[in-house]
Amino acid sequence: MSDEYYDGFAEYYHFHQEATGRNDITFYTELCRSNPGTVLEVGCGTGRTLIPCAKAGASITGLDLSEDMLTFCKGTMQKQVAEVRSRIKLVKADMTNFDLHEKFNLITTPFRPFQHLTSVKQQLDCLSSIRKHLTPGGTFVLDIFDPDMKLLADTNRAIEFGEEPPIVLSDGRVVSVTYRNPSVDSVNQIIQCEIIFSIKHPDGSYEKLIQEFLMRYTFRWEAEHLLHRAGFKVKSVLGGYNNQDVGAGELIFICEG
Ligand SMILES: C[S@@+](CC[C@H](N)C(=O)[O-])C[C@H]1O[C@@H](n2cnc3c(N)ncnc32)[C@H](O)[C@@H]1O
Repeated sequence: MSDEYYDGFAEYYHFHQEATGRNDITFYTELCRSNPGTVLEVGCGTGRTLIPCAKAGASITGLDLSEDMLTFCKGTMQKQVAEVRSRIKLVKADMTNFDLHEKFNLITTPFRPFQHLTSVKQQLDCLSSIRKHLTPGGTFVLDIFDPDMKLLADTNRAIEFGEEPPIVLSDGRVVSVTYRNPSVDSVNQIIQCEIIFSIKHPDGSYEKLIQEFLMRYTFRWEAEHLLHRAGFKVKSVLGGYNNQDVGAGELIFICEG
């Protein structure tokens, strides 16, 4: 139920440091510039990368399953000038089965939406839907993390980690963020993840919200095989958004449809 993972968390997601500090915006805006034509962003979420791409001139459709994430995205979209707004379309759909009756020159998946698909069937269904929407010779970019064996083998699962500097939201709420991975199913390659938002409200009350979700990790060569099975030609693989070689933490597959 990956749509429910984000409902109720859009605002916290958008402003937490893992999202704001990702350093991938220029990568995606440049990708749009070097692949002129229409763009589809699969799992567009709050529009963190979609809005900058539209501002950079792309005619872009954002697809997501979470009503809450799309509503946040619409809110940001409405603050843009008319010309930018006119270049954006938002669609609520499941990335494993969608039909937009349109083809795109570029299809992207920023910040790992694909990893919410926990079975090979879902992964292949998603890649098949994506391929159907790509113009012949168009570019598909799959963006996932490179599994870190040390972290996966760590059995200290009760511990919260990765404390971020507190965020102050416009209404005065102060939000602290930590993470926990209560379990790793190494047979099925699925990590149980938690993002823990500790919120201090302006009236002095406290609240703790835990966003729980699953992520499937996929190794580099496994992903290449999946992409080949789905009919894509992998043209290059990057390890980060500044053209790093594989080994820098991310796995970014630049594919031709
Ligand atoms: C980590 S967020 C990435 C959002 C955005 N691309 C970004 O870079 O900030 C993953 C997004 O994938 C969406 N998602 C998860 N499963 C989905 C599915 N089956 N179909 C469509 N979207 C899905 C979630 O709702 C969420 O907005």
